[in-house]
Amino acid sequence: MAFLCEWCSYAGADHAGMLHQEYASGVHIIKVMCSGRIEPMHVLEAYKNGADGVIILACHPGDCHYRSGNLIAHKRYRMLSRALQQAGIAPERCMFDSVSATEGRRFAELADRFAAILKRLGPLSPK
Ligand code: FES
Repeated sequence: MAFLCEWCSYAGADHAGMLHQEYASGVHIIKVMCSGRIEPMHVLEAYKNGADGVIILACHPGDCHYRSGNLIAHKRYRMLSRALQQAGIAPERCMFDSVSATEGRRFAELADRFAAILKRLGPLSPK
């Protein structure tokens, strides 16, 4: 499951499409207005509904259209990582990074890297 902010990372995924850039096929994208909109509850809900991992992609620092949404999202991500570890869930199942609107290749690389991590970890719960 990939949460992408409208202004940068979703546009970056779109750019990957324009470049005909291939990336891992199991990535399900959810567009949000800003990564600051993502609460830990959204990530946990994704796991509960069968996602093996969640990647949150935001604007680069200083580029958030809502000024500090990406910084808030990163803070939440760090807290969530610790909580996942305490709950016995590999923190690698949640990833946070930044992609700009012109970084289609970077989007594809991150999607592939995350898919490889999840493949190594195996399913979160039996399907
Ligand atoms: Fe992209 Fe806020 S608009 S992270």
